[in-house]
Amino acid sequence: MKDDRYVRIGLIGAGAIGSFHGESVARRLAGAQLAAIADPAPGAAQRLADKLGCVVATTDPDALLSNPDIDAVLIASPARFHSELVVKAAKAGKAVFCEKPMALSIAEADRAIAAAREAGVPLQIGFNRRYDKAWADARRVIVDGELGTPQLLRSLTRDPELADPSRVPPWAVFFETLIHDFDTLRFLNPGAEVTEVYALADAMVRPDFRSRGLLDTALVSLRFDNGAMASVEASFQAVYGYDVRGEVFGQGGMVTMGDVRGSNMTRFGVDGVSSPTVRLNVDLFHDAYTAQLAAFVETVRAGAGAGRLSPDVPVGEDARAALAIALACIRSVEEKRPVRVAEGSQA
Ligand SMILES: NC(=O)c1ccc[n+]([C@@H]2O[C@H](COP(=O)([O-])OP(=O)(O)OC[C@H]3O[C@@H](n4cnc5c(N)ncnc54)[C@H](O)[C@@H]3O)[C@@H](O)[C@H]2O)c1
Repeated sequence: MKDDRYVRIGLIGAGAIGSFHGESVARRLAGAQLAAIADPAPGAAQRLADKLGCVVATTDPDALLSNPDIDAVLIASPARFHSELVVKAAKAGKAVFCEKPMALSIAEADRAIAAAREAGVPLQIGFNRRYDKAWADARRVIVDGELGTPQLLRSLTRDPELADPSRVPPWAVFFETLIHDFDTLRFLNPGAEVTEVYALADAMVRPDFRSRGLLDTALVSLRFDNGAMASVEASFQAVYGYDVRGEVFGQGGMVTMGDVRGSNMTRFGVDGVSSPTVRLNVDLFHDAYTAQLAAFVETVRAGAGAGRLSPDVPVGEDARAALAIALACIRSVEEKRPVRVAEGSQA
């Protein structure tokens, strides 16, 4: 029987991040229930369901979508399936939370946004950095005008380890990694849009995979329509840990965000001074991953038509804007020249 005290959530994709989101819904979120899990890989949904005490597990995402007891879905499949799943979920009347990237082309992004709009369901995107306290505080400082108009912005993502380069999808450094940084830049330069990019990318961690198209390192210069300039960079392997940082500079000063240290413990020993570092995304962003889902549940509870409860919530249009920047970067790498964002989106 459906229990109206809870938002009943179906999880689609029980891999690395899907398992963590499933655990958040089952154990860390008041007001939500993990009602079903779908994953086409044999046994994947069932294993997670057993661990989390979820009663429905299936290998068929369509079966989950046609279940009338489910109010909302979390999409955590590989990126190439996202936009189609968003469209199907919206048509089934489910509120949608979709991991990044929401789509891999502008046409797909537009279809997903239109489907959610036509169905009148919320469509929230997994840009979790917006829910990290440091980034949220930075945004408040900027929105309050304390820095003046942002002049220079920086954002970087360094993953701890590139375990298996053969599993990295094409252009992942832009579509899956730096897409977070592109969203962060837009979040921290409110109302402004990126107009032009110049991107460099290479296989520096695993040069032996360069000939197979791997890009594991990237650096991008960006220009905004309010005059601000920005740089972002990514590496798939930083030996010292999971390193995500940001910085915004303006006439009134500067904000900086991010710290790779795992705690504020500092060890003083015969070899010098050292600190432990964070090794996993789910440790660095543990609270932010949970907070974004709490915000999603709140939106679903507010009911259809309530729209976005705050301009800080990342929605389909934000996914589209970040994707347009990623596509311009890809074109910039291919053509070895600066590319206007509008030009990149025509690909
Ligand atoms: N926001 C973040 O910080 C963050 C972190 C990690 C991953 N992600 C994103 O989440 C997505 C999943 O990443 P992951 O690391 O969990 O991948 P993963 O490979 O560990 O898991 C993907 C799961 O989806 C399942 N799957 C395959 N095809 C499917 C389909 N058609 N429908 C439903 N499920 C399907 C697979 O069997 C697998 O269990 C990616 O888009 C990734 O970029 C986001």
